[in-house]
Amino acid sequence: MSNTPISYEQAGVSIDAGNALVEDIKPFVQQTLQRSGTLSSIGGFGGLFDVTAAGYKDPILVAATDGVGTKLKIAIDTNRHSTIGQDLVAMCVNDLLAMGAEPLFFLDYFATSELDVTTTAEVVKGIANACKDCNVALIGGETAELPGMYHPKDYDLAGFCVGAMERETIFPSKNIQAGDHVIGLASSGIHSNGYSLVRKIVQMNGYEWDDIAPFGDGIKTMADYLLAPTTLYVSSTLPAIKDDKIKAFANITGGGITENLPRVLPDNMAAHIDLSSWVLPPLFAWLAQNGPVEAIEMLRTLNCGIGATVIASSENVDAVISHYESFGIKAYDIGVLKAKTDEEVIYQGLDQFLPAVDLVELPSANKKNVAILISGRGSNMLSLVKAMQAASFPAQCCVVISDKKDAAGLELAEQQGIKTVLVDRSEFNSKAEFEAQMQKELAAHEAEYICAAGFFQVLSAEFCDAWSGKIINIHPSLLPAFKGLNTHQRAIDLGVQYSGASVHHITAKIDDGPIVMQKIVPVRKEDTADDLAARILKEEHALYPQALKKLILSQD
Ligand code: GRF
Repeated sequence: MSNTPISYEQAGVSIDAGNALVEDIKPFVQQTLQRSGTLSSIGGFGGLFDVTAAGYKDPILVAATDGVGTKLKIAIDTNRHSTIGQDLVAMCVNDLLAMGAEPLFFLDYFATSELDVTTTAEVVKGIANACKDCNVALIGGETAELPGMYHPKDYDLAGFCVGAMERETIFPSKNIQAGDHVIGLASSGIHSNGYSLVRKIVQMNGYEWDDIAPFGDGIKTMADYLLAPTTLYVSSTLPAIKDDKIKAFANITGGGITENLPRVLPDNMAAHIDLSSWVLPPLFAWLAQNGPVEAIEMLRTLNCGIGATVIASSENVDAVISHYESFGIKAYDIGVLKAKTDEEVIYQGLDQFLPAVDLVELPSANKKNVAILISGRGSNMLSLVKAMQAASFPAQCCVVISDKKDAAGLELAEQQGIKTVLVDRSEFNSKAEFEAQMQKELAAHEAEYICAAGFFQVLSAEFCDAWSGKIINIHPSLLPAFKGLNTHQRAIDLGVQYSGASVHHITAKIDDGPIVMQKIVPVRKEDTADDLAARILKEEHALYPQALKKLILSQD
C-alpha cells in the first residue's frame, strides 16, 4: 500500500468544479425564488416552501417526477444543452396540470461521470428559465459527479415538481359527459417521449443530427426539429382550470393519445377522435414513412402533433380554442365523448392519417434544376442533395457530374438515387473540349444552376460567363482571405482568430467571385489544420444549402 495521500479530486470528483457551477447558475436560480411561498435561499440542506403564503387555504399537495430520456443523447451528441432543461420541467409540470394542481416548486438531479461546468450550467439555466416561465421555484438540486458511472460526456437528468390544489378542487371534473368535446393542443415536436424509436429511424435512414431535415424547410437540421423543447402548458392551462372552462387535461406523453387520454376520462366514456381534424406534422409523417411505423403504433407511441388534450363542454369549445390561441398554442376540436362500448379511444380516418405520398419525393413544379460538380469525396454534394429532397426546397438535383472517375462522391450520389455522369478531364486534350462536353451534359439534364462542391477544375471565362449569376462554389475560408489550396494551414500559420466558409459566384479567377453567404468559425489555439478543416466542413454542410436557397429565391 502506498503512503502517498490521495484527494477526492484525484479520484475524479472536483469540489471546485461543483462550486464554480453553483456560482454560474446562481442568478438564474435566484430569479425563480421570487415566487410567493418560497422560503429558501441557495445552499441549504433542503428547500423550504410555505404553501399558505402561496395563497392556499386547505391545500392538497401533488407531486410528479420524470426524466428526459434518450432525447438527451441528441443534446449530448450535438453539444446543444440549452433547452433540455425545459423538457425536464415540462414533463413534470404538465403531469401536475392533469391533476388540476398548480406547480409550485421543483428540484432537479443531474448525474455525470466528469462534471463539465459549461454543459451543466447550460442545462440548469434551461431548467431555471422553464421554472420561471411557469412561476415555479427551483428550490433544490443535486449535481452528482460519479466517476466511471457513465460514458465520458454523457449525463442523465431527472427532477420532480410539487404542486398544490385546494382540497375542494375536483379535477378532472365529475361532470364529464357524453357530448363533451376533446380539444387537442399542438405540440412543439416530439416533446420528450419515443426517442428510442425516433433515433432508430433517423439512424436507419442514414441521417446525422446535423443533416438538413428532409421534411423541413431545407434549412433546419434534424437536431433543430428533434431538440425542439417540450411545450409548457402551465400559464395557459391554469386560468382555464380556474375559470371552469375545461373539465380535464391530459398530458400526451409515453403511450400517445391512445393511452393518456383515457387516464382522465370516467370509466364509462370513450373518446371518438377524428384524425382529419389536424394535419400530422411533416416530422411525424416522415418518421411514419421511413420507419415505417403503422398509424396505430404512431398514435400510441408519439404525440403526433397533439401535446395535450383538454375536455370541454360543446358550448365552450370556441372559447377554449381562442383561449389557448391567445397564449400562442394552436388548438383543434379533435373529437367527442360517447358512452363506452368497447375501446377507450376510437379513431376515425385511421387509413388516411398518414400521407400516402412519400414526402421526400414530392415533386414541385417550381423547383429549379441544379447540377452539382465534384472531384472527390462529395460531402458538400451530399448535404445539398439531402436539403433538396425537402418538398419545400426551391431546387432539385438533376445530375452530379464528376471530372474524376474515382471520385468517392459518385457512389454517394447514386445511393441517394441521383443521376451521375463522368466527364473525365484526363480523356480530353484541351480545356475547351472538356468544357464543351460539360455543357452538353448540363443541357441534356436541363440544369439551370451549377454548384461546384469540391470540384478541382478552374473553368474558363467563356464557361463562367455562359452561367453568370447561376454558378457558385464553396470555399473553406472567409474570402477574400486564403484563396486556393492549403487554406487551413495558412490560416493557422498566420495566427488568425477567425476563419470560416464562403459560398461565392464562380469566375475565371480562383475563389474570386462575389460572395453569396459566409459563416464565421473561430480558430482555437490548439487547432491543427485537420481540426479546423473538420469544424469548418460541418458549417459548410449547413451553409451551402442556405446559400443556394437564398440565391434562387433572390432571382425568382
Ligand atoms: C470543401 O472543404 C470545400 O469547401 C472545398 O473542397 C472541399 C470539398 O469537400 N471547395 P467535399 O468533397 O464536399 O467533402
